[in-house]
Amino acid sequence: MKFDTSVLLGLASLLAGISQAADDESQGSNRLEFSNIGYTGYYEDVQELKHIWQEKKCLCKRSREAWFHGTNAPLSEYLSIQVRGPVALKQFGYYHADYFAIGDPYSNSTSWTRGGYYNSVSGLAENVTFLNNYGAQSPCLGGALAYTEDDGMANSEIAHTLKGDNLIPSGREYSIYSNKLCPHSGVKNGCGVYRHGIPAYYGFYGKTKMFLFEFEMPHDSRPNMTAIPYYDLPAISLLNDRIPRTSLNPTNELCNCVTGGCGVYNVFEAKNGTENNHLYSTLFTNQVGGQLATGFVSDGWIERTDGVMRGGVIMDSAGNIVTFMNNNTIFDASISASDVESFLSQIPQDQSISTQIAAAVPVSSTKTKKK
Ligand SMILES: *[C@@H]1O[C@H](CO)[C@@H](O)[C@H](O)[C@H]1NC(C)=O
Ligand SMILES: *[C@@H]1O[C@H](CO)[C@@H](O)[C@H](O)[C@H]1NC(C)=O
Ligand SMILES: *[C@@H]1O[C@H](CO)[C@@H](O)[C@H](O)[C@H]1NC(C)=O
Ligand SMILES: *[C@@H]1O[C@H](CO)[C@@H](O)[C@H](O)[C@H]1NC(C)=O
Ligand SMILES: *[C@@H]1O[C@H](CO)[C@@H](O)[C@H](O)[C@H]1NC(C)=O
Repeated sequence: MKFDTSVLLGLASLLAGISQAADDESQGSNRLEFSNIGYTGYYEDVQELKHIWQEKKCLCKRSREAWFHGTNAPLSEYLSIQVRGPVALKQFGYYHADYFAIGDPYSNSTSWTRGGYYNSVSGLAENVTFLNNYGAQSPCLGGALAYTEDDGMANSEIAHTLKGDNLIPSGREYSIYSNKLCPHSGVKNGCGVYRHGIPAYYGFYGKTKMFLFEFEMPHDSRPNMTAIPYYDLPAISLLNDRIPRTSLNPTNELCNCVTGGCGVYNVFEAKNGTENNHLYSTLFTNQVGGQLATGFVSDGWIERTDGVMRGGVIMDSAGNIVTFMNNNTIFDASISASDVESFLSQIPQDQSISTQIAAAVPVSSTKTKKK
């Protein structure tokens, strides 16, 4: 079979990143918004992982076209949470709603239902599974997913709930999945192809969904040594849940679907050492061809403070993805649409930044039919 990779139409990139910045860009924001999200297209999904223990023969094949469409696509698929230290997680909640569009009065009768929750004080963890990528090492796939100990770092044979004092240091990471087990690995199965032998769970589903976080991102108190990767650069991200199940840090990009366009959204991310008190949001999809490497970075940032921060991300039914920080964020089992609306409306206009992504790029299959 032959592939022609040049068929993606890049024309709409001309229209990319039309943005509206707040007046004073030197000041932090508390609301970072991307609009017009979702398109019809496909991502290249991993199809085969072979000889994964052999340095030279290790093979990943990524030619399957996984088609998607609609609002927020492909971020409308199952997403897992990725946490990179230094972070201490206090609370986490996953919510879904049938219909909620920011600013639309017709959504005010609906409410958001919690479908997963963690509380570090009570130790309650429901419908969530904590995993890390420190399992068996493969030369091309890196560490496999494994259950994490209650410290969020060591791996374990069995599932644990994160303990109250769960600060992970710079560079350490863990994932949060749901408690719903995957069917067997397979191209046509619910979780796609994934690495053999891992604890495989679904992420969190929904076109209209919301993730709330209460957390600390304390500064790393150690000296900055090159041996510490991602020194003092904490992040909380959403990943297409297929990514960690095949490989989080592959040596060969074909071993996961990131550069295939399956979707990543960094919610709160310190991007570099000179600006490590600025938390940016970045969207990685192929909606506007050619932006996958750097992604769409929010035009503003949210201040990383020393205290407890509360906020999250809303993916609404109208293709808006909004990161926000608001101390009044609540984590109830059900949250009314008007309360969610107020998480945002309490944030002053001059602390809100929006970035409009260009309309969907028409996409056609790259597969050349065999005669
Ligand atoms: C919902 O919106 C309608 C129309 O704007 C308004 O009349 C009504 O009071 C709102 N209901 C609530 C519960 O906020
Ligand atoms: C766990 O999921 C079930 C079924 O989806 C839901 O009823 C329950 O409220 C969830 N638990 C929490 C703590 O959110
Ligand atoms: C740090 O990241 C920000 C946001 O992407 C960028 O504007 C800035 O140029 C970066 N600084 C350096 C030194 O790379
Ligand atoms: C840590 O050191 C690296 C490499 O010299 C540098 O790029 C980075 O900005 C430093 N980070 C901080 C927070 O000073
Ligand atoms: C939010 O709470 C933190 C920690 O308690 C505090 O430092 C910060 O000033 C609060 N922010 C606002 C806008 O009130």
